[in-house]
Amino acid sequence: MSAALEVPADRPFRHVGQPRSRVDGRLKVTGGARYAAEFDAPNLLHGVAVPASIARGRIRRIDTEAAVAVPGVVHIYTHGNRPPIPASDQDYQDAVAPPGKPFRPLFNDQILFSGQPVALVVAETLDAATYAASLVRVDAEAEPHETNLERNRFAAYVPPEKRSGIAPPPETRGFPDAAFNVAPVQIRNEYHVESEHHNPMEPHASTAIWEGDGRLTVYDKIQGVMNSHAYITGIFGLDADQVHVLSPFVGGAFGSGLRPQYQLFLAVMATLDLKRSVRVVLSREQMFTIGYRPETINSIALGANADGTLRALKHSAIARTSTFEDYQEVVVNWSNLLYRCENVGLDYKLVKLDTDTPCDMRAPGAPLGVFAIETAMDELAYAVKRDPLELRTQNFADTDEIEGKPFSTRSLREACRQGAEKFGWSGRPFEPRSMREGKELIGWGMATGIWEAMMTPHTARACLTADGKLEVGTATADIGTGTYTMLTQVAADALGLPMEAVTARLGDSRLPKAPVEGGSWTTASAGTAVHLACRKVADTLLGHARRMPGSPFANTSLDHVTFADGRIVLRADPSKAMTLTEVMQAAGVPQVEAEETAEPDPAMKQQFSSYTHSAVFAEVRVDEQLGVVRLTRIVSAVAAGRIVNPKTARSQIIGGVVFGVGMALHEESMLDHRLGRFMNHNLAEYHVPSAADIPDIDVLFVDEVDERLNPLGVKGLGEIGIVGTAAAIGNAIFHATGKRLRHLPMTLERVRG
Ligand code: MOS
Repeated sequence: MSAALEVPADRPFRHVGQPRSRVDGRLKVTGGARYAAEFDAPNLLHGVAVPASIARGRIRRIDTEAAVAVPGVVHIYTHGNRPPIPASDQDYQDAVAPPGKPFRPLFNDQILFSGQPVALVVAETLDAATYAASLVRVDAEAEPHETNLERNRFAAYVPPEKRSGIAPPPETRGFPDAAFNVAPVQIRNEYHVESEHHNPMEPHASTAIWEGDGRLTVYDKIQGVMNSHAYITGIFGLDADQVHVLSPFVGGAFGSGLRPQYQLFLAVMATLDLKRSVRVVLSREQMFTIGYRPETINSIALGANADGTLRALKHSAIARTSTFEDYQEVVVNWSNLLYRCENVGLDYKLVKLDTDTPCDMRAPGAPLGVFAIETAMDELAYAVKRDPLELRTQNFADTDEIEGKPFSTRSLREACRQGAEKFGWSGRPFEPRSMREGKELIGWGMATGIWEAMMTPHTARACLTADGKLEVGTATADIGTGTYTMLTQVAADALGLPMEAVTARLGDSRLPKAPVEGGSWTTASAGTAVHLACRKVADTLLGHARRMPGSPFANTSLDHVTFADGRIVLRADPSKAMTLTEVMQAAGVPQVEAEETAEPDPAMKQQFSSYTHSAVFAEVRVDEQLGVVRLTRIVSAVAAGRIVNPKTARSQIIGGVVFGVGMALHEESMLDHRLGRFMNHNLAEYHVPSAADIPDIDVLFVDEVDERLNPLGVKGLGEIGIVGTAAAIGNAIFHATGKRLRHLPMTLERVRG
């Protein structure tokens, strides 16, 4: 990007950096925002999937006789009568698929996991389809299955093929075993985190609308329309312009909407075959049969000097995956990205089990590994009798030892300092069990968090019309994060317009290319793309202004002017100004349009590592007799580069912290290993935190602008909020009770047990 397209240092932002309400807020609270299952079509049919009830085996026969007799049933698809579909794995590989053989719905008689769809009932009404689906009888031959990670850990293997975008553990540095063995202080334990399901409020849904002539409009619940678009066109052999995928609003996803889910395949298959529009929605129970955060067993060994300085750091993890894909995430590397050590051994292995492939879930991998290392560091602090925050500060890595690079910015120490001050950490008694009120023991704990600050290639278009209205668009999503609002702020500032003059468009496969909204990269990437496209429009406008007879802008470049209040203003003499509308009218152009792509600067990436950081402080009250843990206070101090919108950013961190509270205290997808099935598949038995579980969450943002990353100085923060939260709560429980819990979630029986 040329210097002129960057943010001029002396031009203050008007909207970027300000707490703005969501531009789509009104639509959301009035029901005007429509989600995938809410779009209608004439003669719409309803599809309901029939799940397999065994975890592994072969279908002998599917009896649909009673089901087809239900009035209103139009067709029942099984592997035996489905339309032809491709066989090659390549055709089913979506943009974020892990290595392996992607699941192919209704492909053959094989059952790979309990809940796998084995038939689709299509009917005139949802009721008819639901009832008929309950009448479909699946006769299957069960084979022995394995779903127990603990029992199968002997079969752990290093994934032979790396998942794109996921850094494998680095080579061992130094002599971690020898250094551990001679270390005067040794901490060695296992930290176990159970599986969790995403449970967004909006379940997975696809409405496929038959437009005639083999053309489709598809409303899909997805975190990136391009992924669904490529998936459908690839599998069904359609031309790009035959399929239009839209996803204007997403009712939460947290990673479950990164990959196209099976309802999309089923809805499109039936629509193309029947030449009628079809909608398929997953029930809450079915939502518990698709990808989840994988149960992971961490082992940590820390060797330290008597003063707590780390001499050896070993972190291994074993995680579950399916029998058909090698799902991978970054679990163990965080330990060395947080802490400096000369002797480091990290490894990460998988176990193939007969459940569906796990799926990215908010900060995939990070809260698992960080729970382990941040609990272990707390244990080390108590072993050497040092304040847990001080012990961490003493060991923080100030460079990325894995890649051997400096950090582009690293305000971890500052996050710790500001969070500690806000929380009142300095008043904390060291000894556990030293604070009590009535029946309750009170504890204070802390942990840090880390997540990668990523950018991915995004293209955006900006179009300014002579009425002074600006439209910007890119095919990203707004998964509830506030993307519409953020893009509006960035665009308004780039051209000096009020936010009301700007319309942001996204969630449409015909917009300029963007990947899924994920990895906390959207503000840095889509925001930068929109900024660059708008600055290019500004450049064109200035060109028009320069060429006008007697122009005050003759011989100027973007560096000499500002765009403010709908005008181009000469910096040297602010009385010289022209409105954008005047310029366009004088030039005789009805609109000015530009398209730009933002991508990470390869030279920067080669030189620097970029992460976001946090420090989380928690206060709990524990009733020892009952095992009840009440969270009473939490402070999350976050360093994530420039904060484009402190209001929506705060909401993101609050949401992430609530996720962390769920992980710490409540959420656990429980398998019945005899059946090989997640059994608590509803929101009564799978407990997500409710309002009563959540105290005031104090969010603070550390001043940080990372201009090495992008012209906005943004790092991104959709995920960092969850990362350190569970460890901070566990450490607070230890401080309250003196009892160290190493198994999440820390439910009543684990607290009492
Ligand atoms: Mo996120 S787990 O990349 O939606």
